[in-house]
Amino acid sequence: MVSVCVVVVVVVMCVSGDSGDRNTPISVPLRGLTKDLGHSEAPRTGDQEREWWADYLCHQTNFQGQEQKHIIPLQQLFRDVTPERRDRNVFLMDTACNTHPRYRAWCSVESWANQNPDLDVWFLMTSQKVSDTDGLPSLLMHKYPNLRLVGTHLAGIFKGTPVEPLYLSRKWTVSETWPPEVLSNMLRALVLWHYGGIYSDTDILSIRPFTLPLNATGFDVEAVVGSALYAFSAHHPLLWTLMEDINKEFIPGVWGIIGPAAVTRVVKKACGTNDTYTLLHKAPVSCANKSVTIYPDTHFFPVFWYGFERYFNKSTGLNFDKDFKSSYVLHMWNKLSKWTPIKMGFFSIYEAAARRSCPLTFSRATLRSNFF
Ligand SMILES: *[C@@H]1O[C@H](CO)[C@@H](O)[C@H](O)[C@H]1NC(C)=O
Ligand SMILES: *[C@@H]1O[C@H](CO)[C@@H](O)[C@H](O)[C@H]1NC(C)=O
Ligand SMILES: *[C@@H]1O[C@H](CO)[C@@H](O)[C@H](O)[C@H]1NC(C)=O
Ligand SMILES: *[C@@H]1O[C@H](CO)[C@@H](O)[C@H](O)[C@H]1NC(C)=O
Repeated sequence: MVSVCVVVVVVVMCVSGDSGDRNTPISVPLRGLTKDLGHSEAPRTGDQEREWWADYLCHQTNFQGQEQKHIIPLQQLFRDVTPERRDRNVFLMDTACNTHPRYRAWCSVESWANQNPDLDVWFLMTSQKVSDTDGLPSLLMHKYPNLRLVGTHLAGIFKGTPVEPLYLSRKWTVSETWPPEVLSNMLRALVLWHYGGIYSDTDILSIRPFTLPLNATGFDVEAVVGSALYAFSAHHPLLWTLMEDINKEFIPGVWGIIGPAAVTRVVKKACGTNDTYTLLHKAPVSCANKSVTIYPDTHFFPVFWYGFERYFNKSTGLNFDKDFKSSYVLHMWNKLSKWTPIKMGFFSIYEAAARRSCPLTFSRATLRSNFF
C-alpha cells in the first residue's frame, strides 16, 4: 500500500555547441557589496570560463535581458572561498542556474540565517552570479553577517571522491535524468563531507535554532529516511558510503534513485536492518555504534506530502507553537506546492513561519501584492 507521488519537472535541454552566448566576464563596480558578501577580496572576474556542465544545467538561465549592473558575480566555493568553521555550516543550493531564485527559496535561506545566528549559512548557486534587481540579496547579506552567497567550483569539489566517476561520466547530464536534481543529490553529500554541518533544501524553513547534535537524519513518510535535510560532521564515514551508493546505484532516467532512496539504503545498512518501520517506532534511534541518529518524522517532516495544503490553508497557523513544538524545520513540498499562493492575513502555517523566520523576504514579497 505504498503510494508514490512523482512530480516530474520537465527540463528542456538544448545542447549548444559554441554559441555566442558565453558568459562574458563581468566587471561591475561593487559599491561596497564585497564587504556585505562577507568576502575579504573582490570576486575574481577574469577567469569565468564557462564550464562544460553549464551547457546542461544553465540553458534555462534567466540572466539574459537583465540589467548587467544588477548582477553580482560570486566567488566559487572550494576555489575562492572555503568555510572557516568546520561543522558550523548550513548549506542550501540552487543547482538549476537561476540567477533570480524565487521568494520562497530566499525565505528558506533567510530562515536559516535568522534562526541560527551562530551558524554560517551558505547559499550555493551554479549560476555563479546572482541578480540583485529587487535588492533583496544585498539586503539579506547586509542584515545577516552569517549569510554567504557563493558559486560552485564543481571540479574541485568532486575531485578524489566516490562520486567523481559519475560526475565525469556525464551520465547524469542526459535530459531524462533531471540534471539539476541529480547534481543537488551529489553536491549535498559532498559539501558536508568537505566542511560539515547541515544540508537543507530551499523549500525547508528553519523555525527554531537547530540544536540537535550532528550526525542526524530524519524519518519522512512511509518510514523512508529523508534527503531534504540531514546533518553530519565533516568526513563522516556514512557520507562516504552514501557517495559510494550514489555512484553505484545511479541509473539514468529512474526518478529519485539517489535521493531519499539512497539515504534510506545507507541507513538500513548502518542499522543492520531492512525494517525501517521498527526503527521508526524506536526513533530517535542511533545506529552503527551511535555514529548516526534517525529522528522521528515530527522533527523534520511534520507534514507529509499528501497533506501539504495544510501549510497554506486558512487559520492553520493559529496554534503554531503548540503544533510544531517538536519540529525544527518545516518542509514545504515545493514541487507540489509552488503554485499554491501564500496569502497575507490568512493565518496559515506558511505565513506564520515566514513572518517569524524570514521577515525581510516576507515584507519584500508582499510589498506589491497580498500573496506570494
Ligand atoms: C559525528 O560523527 C563523527 C564521525 O563519526 C564524530 O567524530 C563526531 O564526534 C560525531 N558528532 C556528534 C555530535 O556525535
Ligand atoms: C536487506 O535486503 C537486502 C536486499 O534485499 C539483502 O541483501 C540484505 O541482506 C538484507 N539485510 C538484512 C539485514 O536483512
Ligand atoms: C564504539 O565507540 C566507542 C567509543 O566511541 C569505541 O571505544 C568503540 O571501539 C567503538 N566500537 C566499534 C565497534 O567501532
Ligand atoms: C485545505 O483546504 C482545501 C480547500 O479548502 C481543502 O480541500 C483541504 O482539505 C484542506 N486541507 C487541509 C490539510 O487542511
